[in-house]
Amino acid sequence: MTRVANQHGAINLAHGFPDFDPPEELLVALEKTTRGPFHQYAVTWGAPRFRQALARKIPRFTGLAVDPDQHLVVTCGSTEAMMVAMMTACNPGDKVIVFSPFYENYVADTILSGAEPIYVALRPPDFAFDPDELRRAFQQRPKALVLCNPSNPSGKVFTREELLYIAKLAAGLRDGAAGGDPLGAQGP
Ligand SMILES: Cc1ncc(COP(=O)(O)O)c(C=O)c1O
Repeated sequence: MTRVANQHGAINLAHGFPDFDPPEELLVALEKTTRGPFHQYAVTWGAPRFRQALARKIPRFTGLAVDPDQHLVVTCGSTEAMMVAMMTACNPGDKVIVFSPFYENYVADTILSGAEPIYVALRPPDFAFDPDELRRAFQQRPKALVLCNPSNPSGKVFTREELLYIAKLAAGLRDGAAGGDPLGAQGP
């Protein structure tokens, strides 16, 4: 799309180009790091010092205790992480809920895992989902739901209420209620 947009002088909505440089502190740290003894292959699931630093950071943001050797794998970007997660979670024939519009790789990840996407619309102006549509999607017993928050490309930030509703449907599915309705008779 970038090549075609350039060819026609169109506004390119296919590719994000930040109009600012990375923070100076980051550039200085990066330069310093290139002078260190860091030029050999790391262990394949991530350099220990990096995983240890992540294990110190993650609890501050999530409240989750993380063991750097048991719980962390460093991937080459989030594209690889998503693909690994999808192939771990899904078997051929499974279903995956994808909010639409979606970041392009999510459906490719789903299909490459042999799973089938169930699209749930996010509708402008606030890109909210219809609770009944999501409930119907959960009735198909999906194996996974892709939650991109804030979402690319809409920029939608899911509200606490929406996240709790998604969690409630997921818990209902886990607890086996979704042969019928993941929320039972309770409603949202
Ligand atoms: C939602 C989303 N996921 C993944 C990616 C790609 O990330 P990475 O370069 O870490 O693989 C992008 C890039 O724009 C993105 O917007």
